[in-house]
Amino acid sequence: MGAGASFFYYNKLVKIEAEQKMKEPRKVRLHTYGCQMNEYDSEVIAGLFERDGWVLTDDESEAEVILLNTCSVRQHAEDRVWGALFELRERAMRQPGLVVGVCGCMAQAKADEIARRCPHVKVICGTRAFNRLPELVARAAQGRGSVIDTDMSSEPFLANLPQKRRSRLKAFVPVMRGCENYCAYCVVPYVRGHEASRSLEEVLAEVESLARDGCREVMLLGQNVNSYRAAGVSFADVLREVAAIKGIDRIRFMTSHPKDFPDELIRAMADVPQVCEHLHLPLQSGCDRILKMMNRGYTFESYRGLAQKIRGAVPEIALSTDILVGFPGETDDDFKQTARALKEIGFDSAFIFKYSDREGTSAYELQPKVGEEIIMRRHAELLKLQEKIGMEKNRKLIGASPEVLVEGYSPRNPERLFGRTRTNKRVVFGGGGDLIGKLVYVIIREATPLTLIGEEL
Ligand code: SAH
Ligand code: SF4
Ligand code: F3S
Repeated sequence: MGAGASFFYYNKLVKIEAEQKMKEPRKVRLHTYGCQMNEYDSEVIAGLFERDGWVLTDDESEAEVILLNTCSVRQHAEDRVWGALFELRERAMRQPGLVVGVCGCMAQAKADEIARRCPHVKVICGTRAFNRLPELVARAAQGRGSVIDTDMSSEPFLANLPQKRRSRLKAFVPVMRGCENYCAYCVVPYVRGHEASRSLEEVLAEVESLARDGCREVMLLGQNVNSYRAAGVSFADVLREVAAIKGIDRIRFMTSHPKDFPDELIRAMADVPQVCEHLHLPLQSGCDRILKMMNRGYTFESYRGLAQKIRGAVPEIALSTDILVGFPGETDDDFKQTARALKEIGFDSAFIFKYSDREGTSAYELQPKVGEEIIMRRHAELLKLQEKIGMEKNRKLIGASPEVLVEGYSPRNPERLFGRTRTNKRVVFGGGGDLIGKLVYVIIREATPLTLIGEEL
């Protein structure tokens, strides 16, 4: 082959490569922070991009679009996002076509600050605008400035949005969005807007389609599912209707506010076999003075009464909770009441959070703030206490043989499988991959504070 021919050949190759590159699907990297609602929204965002021909990637270096679906609930959640954004600045300078976008709660709360501090962020999209993300990204890719859409006036539930789910077996299904409780410490009502319930028809249509795809467990989501109300339908009705869908073996829900927990709901939890024996019921504090300042709308006494009533109706139930330490004005004595409450109720698990001052909330104005060191000490103390309580609860399960929905191989030990009991306890046990996706019975041999270890019965 002469030099001319090889040059021609080379040119042709370059052309083919360039053409292939043009045909290669465009890639988007999506990072998700925060709660289950954000995880659900991310599944829809991923679905929207896929519908438009994009491919989701885990490899950020090959992405043309990098999206951060963010959380504002504590300063730490925001700090992680700021850190990630500053890290992307240099790359954005090197790669002018790159679109960095921020959506979710922090985008809603801090749009102006993000635009000011991070000029390399091209898209800022609020919590009720995420269905418009592909369009906003397209606009940003053409234009020069940032595209900001934090309009909250649109319908909170849009029908027929596509979804790219992470798990075939388990799914989140939002039944309501937003919150109107205005707990003194919390940003959610400001960033997620007014409460809105999804119509029963839409909820059922989504669960039916999940069931057709092989889903066996649904988690009905909302900031406060107990206040669900749509055309006269209550949350207890939703539980009963969802249970009538064939193929759904397990129903969970989150979160329930203790201030409104009707008997009708307790009855549904007791009668509907698919509703799992687990309830997340945030207590926040065991001290009435603090609960009042938090605007929670219940006393410890009434919470304890409710827990008793629920345990009376569903004896197997596991209770989990959220606790917030270091709310402004919390004294040592107030804190001791929370520690006592943890012992008295005996939660199966508890998320214990350090109070984080959020601008715009009413607690932000409250004085005196509790010092960082005291908060750390109280936090560590409760973690230790709860570990002990959780351990005692789990130890009692040794010898029992609960039903486990097998989710996959244990990430820590790929030779073992893991799954969850109806009471939401993590179980690790030996078995073959053919069990994944099945309900099996596992005899518990060992217990740790967060995991049960056993073997298939
Ligand atoms: N709607 C749910 C969850 C809200 S956020 C509920 O009402 O339970 C989840 C948890 O984060 C809350 O229960 C609370 O314990 C914690 N949290 C909210 N705001 C916080 C703040 N400013 N600082 C620390 N923890 C907070
Ligand atoms: Fe926040 Fe309270 Fe609403 Fe929960 S109920 S999201 S803690 S304001
Ligand atoms: Fe969830 Fe965080 Fe928003 S907890 S609702 S993502 S502020």
